[in-house]
Amino acid sequence: MWFSKSNFPVDGKTALVVGASQGVGADIAKKLYQQNCSVILVARTQSKLDKQVEYILGLPKTHVNHTAKIACYSCDASSYEDFVNLWKQITAHGYDPTIIFCCAGSSVPKLFSDLTSQDLDAGININYRTALNVVHSGFKHLLAINESTPPQNWPLRHIVIFSSVVSFFPFVGYSQYAPMKAALESLSVILRQELKPYNYRVSCVFPGNFQSEGFDEEQKTKPELTKIIEGPSVPIPSDECADMVFDQLAKGYDTITTDFIGWVLGCSSLGILPRQWGGFQVIVSFFLSVFGPVINWGIGREIKKHFDEKRKRMD
Ligand SMILES: NC(=O)c1ccc[n+]([C@@H]2O[C@H](COP(=O)([O-])OP(=O)(O)OC[C@H]3O[C@@H](n4cnc5c(N)ncnc54)[C@H](OP(=O)(O)O)[C@@H]3O)[C@@H](O)[C@H]2O)c1
Repeated sequence: MWFSKSNFPVDGKTALVVGASQGVGADIAKKLYQQNCSVILVARTQSKLDKQVEYILGLPKTHVNHTAKIACYSCDASSYEDFVNLWKQITAHGYDPTIIFCCAGSSVPKLFSDLTSQDLDAGININYRTALNVVHSGFKHLLAINESTPPQNWPLRHIVIFSSVVSFFPFVGYSQYAPMKAALESLSVILRQELKPYNYRVSCVFPGNFQSEGFDEEQKTKPELTKIIEGPSVPIPSDECADMVFDQLAKGYDTITTDFIGWVLGCSSLGILPRQWGGFQVIVSFFLSVFGPVINWGIGREIKKHFDEKRKRMD
């Protein structure tokens, strides 16, 4: 509920943050550690992880009786086998993360005709496989080591998956990325159903633009047409994005957006997703379903204009 603040206790717990060497994953790891939650940072690049750990350890400890630990592991989460081995290492080092953030992800915004097969593979591997592998290999690992514990006796665990607002509203330029984020939305619904008997809570984050190294990289290939359809959008700082995620998790929400437009667009695909201000969402959803074809017509008109102009320039 909007007035609640107690649904995301992290003090004394252990969290695994995948995609924690930069961007919002790094901010999440920092905030967890500052709240006395032990954190395990994972990404592919060891040097960036080391720098991040050094930075976090250098911050003043604000929590009284700070006992949290910090560790980092370099691992490509898009490789299932590598993550199976990582879970074994994590357990061998005495960690049992009960909170898992799947933040790894990146977009190569281009028109469909400009995408390469490497771009397509990266879209699937970095956005979908990373989360799928982390959650599936982790769950199987726990099943194997807790064979004799009945599911209802498992401790509370929490998975937070980073999708994107383009999952609700896919548009031109995001064919390499948006379908994977929609796959994560769908995966989160099924995990919420299947893992509940094992005491898992599953949340899915649908951020709008926020400032990060990944966001800067995106701007390099983003087509003009994509920018026009997207409209003016000032990215919020990733630190602020992390705060919003924590705040909404603490309120008990499991479908998380980071700006008003994200919340509105989320109303277009309510389905069986957990809701936030559900009554209002149904009303907005009604208007979106009425005006959806008009919005789509507007997008189609922009695209036609763009291609007509391009053809004229080539003639
Ligand atoms: N920034 C935005 O505006 C925005 C908007 C909507 C949604 N999102 C989503 O929010 C999440 C975080 O975005 P961000 O902008 O903070 O990203 P970012 O700056 O690009 O950081 C991505 C992180 O993931 C790690 N990573 C990438 N591939 C990996 C792999 N295969 N295995 C392990 N780690 C991997 C990266 O480190 P290495 O390269 O060292 O592995 C890095 O630490 C992503 O899922 C993104 O799609 C972002």
